[in-house]
Amino acid sequence: MSTSSEAKRTFFVTTPIYYVNDVPHIGHAYTTVIADALARFQKLAGKDVFFLTGTDEHGQKIEKAAAEKGTTPKALADSVVGRAQGLWKALDIEYDFFVRTTMDFHEKGVQKLFQLLLDRGDIYKGTYKGWYCVSDENFLADDIPVDADGRKTCPDCGKKASAVSEETYFFRLSAYQDRLLKLYEEHPEFVRPQSRLNEVASFVRGGLKDLSITRTTVKWGIPVPGDPKHTIYVWFDALHNYVTASGYGWDEARFEKFWPADVQLVGKDILRFHAVYWPAFLMAAGLPLPRTIFSHGWWLKDDTKMSKSRGNVLDPHVLLKTFGPDPIRYFLLREIPIGLDGNFSHEGFLHRVNSDLANDFGNLVQRTLTMIGNYFGGAIEAPGEETAEDAAIRTEFDGLKGRVFDHFQACALNKALEEIWSYISRVNKYLADHQPWIMAKDPALRPRLGRVLLQAAAAIRGASYLAYPVMPRSVDKVWGFLGEAAGPAGVRWEAIDFGSFGPGRKVGTPQALFPRVALKDFLGDESAAGQDSGPAAGPETTKGATNMDIITYEEFKKLDLRVARILEAERVPGATRILKLKIDIGTEQRQMVAGVAETYTPEELVGKSLIVICNLKPAVIRGIESQAMLLAAITPDNKALIPFFDRDIAAGAMVK
Ligand code: MSP
Repeated sequence: MSTSSEAKRTFFVTTPIYYVNDVPHIGHAYTTVIADALARFQKLAGKDVFFLTGTDEHGQKIEKAAAEKGTTPKALADSVVGRAQGLWKALDIEYDFFVRTTMDFHEKGVQKLFQLLLDRGDIYKGTYKGWYCVSDENFLADDIPVDADGRKTCPDCGKKASAVSEETYFFRLSAYQDRLLKLYEEHPEFVRPQSRLNEVASFVRGGLKDLSITRTTVKWGIPVPGDPKHTIYVWFDALHNYVTASGYGWDEARFEKFWPADVQLVGKDILRFHAVYWPAFLMAAGLPLPRTIFSHGWWLKDDTKMSKSRGNVLDPHVLLKTFGPDPIRYFLLREIPIGLDGNFSHEGFLHRVNSDLANDFGNLVQRTLTMIGNYFGGAIEAPGEETAEDAAIRTEFDGLKGRVFDHFQACALNKALEEIWSYISRVNKYLADHQPWIMAKDPALRPRLGRVLLQAAAAIRGASYLAYPVMPRSVDKVWGFLGEAAGPAGVRWEAIDFGSFGPGRKVGTPQALFPRVALKDFLGDESAAGQDSGPAAGPETTKGATNMDIITYEEFKKLDLRVARILEAERVPGATRILKLKIDIGTEQRQMVAGVAETYTPEELVGKSLIVICNLKPAVIRGIESQAMLLAAITPDNKALIPFFDRDIAAGAMVK
């Protein structure tokens, strides 16, 4: 087993490498955000960190996706890689290395390892006959029954598998059964959480068959050295990214320094590849094994796993646009312990953001610093002595710091956040109990007032530091408001103490940290009138002139009303009143959501021209950003009737 990371003073964390058939969604973002938080924490703790992520670009799945999109696998990969990297940047992911399995050093490294195993007799040639699931890039177990249509179904993803019969090179996996069982027994931390270790061990105890690791019918892969009609099985190729990207075969110094990885994060669907095949490959090559394969759960939407093929993925860009990265990072890490599944609901997300971030944390920062500004001109020069209550806030911070450290070390990120937020509530209560805004009215209480606010500011500084691995951007801002010359990244964990924020420190003017967004504004409300879902009905269907304000022509002129042509229209799964439209407004194309599904079918709308407002603030309705609103009349039974034009008119024409 590996040297312990405590001894080597390094920390190496990996995410799986993502398939390039599509851009990552919230589910993929989850793993990457976990890795980023762990990496940032370990850096604060003084470790030399290597954080690896990347893309899995070979194999039949990508070959097929490229063919369907009418492009080459490499061109598809190139375009997805750019977009994936853009998403990681937007989420403030600070990886150290981005590996692509089409990189030269990786291909050479995989061929070298293949040759090594061949030379050692762990790889041999034979024939494979069985079933293959392209979606999971997985050979099916023999005992899966054949369906009525003569085909087998993949038990993991539910898709039909393809029959395969071809010459192949096998990896002698069966020879590693005992060694793997011994590994799980001697190093139960090899698979976490514990419940997953039991699953893996019982799978291995059930018997291992040799594994086919080359294909002759797949062209998009790394050629087998000396036998190029075979390409290397995508999982043999992909798993080795962890060693090639850390330097195996081309940067031995880096490889020596960082390998083996400390934590390899994987979703539970790919645990078997990482906890069975991967250590067996490494044992065969004589390389050290990773310390821990940490298996996380899935983000579900409406109780099913989010996936592109199910059409229920959440686009992180929609959330990022409204909230920025930190609320997403916080929510993903706070909501569930790593290992369990989580259900993503917009309601749950908004509730957390509004209550924990905007109210509890954002407000605390805002109120405290505003009071220091108003009452002390930004600097508390002469606070009164600490009372027992003030001292408790300080000493509780020390205890908190220790517990949060342990939770981060144990990858219990949700517990770390829980602890930090219960301290934040504690500080909120301390302020509420002391009512500094009342104290401020009595000059005799000025030193006492100074002490209370100083204590609160020191608590904010400390607590926000502890949350930095999860919310780097917001904590950088908080530290800026607190008058720190630099952000928390350069401050070592052991150097953080409550007393570092002392009398005389000049604080700045705080700005809002987190947007407070109402559910209705964010999601729209299908049953509400107005901007959100376009002109769906409210309770009132006719409005008397008397209940409307008179506006001037100047005010009316602010509306950018234009003719739009409907290019595409489709239903929104699970929604009965709204349609998603793509419209041409002359200068550009936009998407919008309109509450007209009860009056029109998508088909009858395509090609029609109508009037839209183009400069209304975009709203997100059912997770779809609506970038315009159409005009319609509301019938007495609450249906929307669109006024269409009775002769041709070009899209983009002004309406006034
Ligand atoms: N390419 C392989 C991994 C090779 S690693 C040597 C692969 N790629 S993937 O893009 O399909 O998935 C990557 C990771 O994303 C997996 O760990 C998977 O569990 C995770 N997730 C995909 N959808 C997810 C959710 N809805 N929720 C949480 N994680 C999800 O598998």
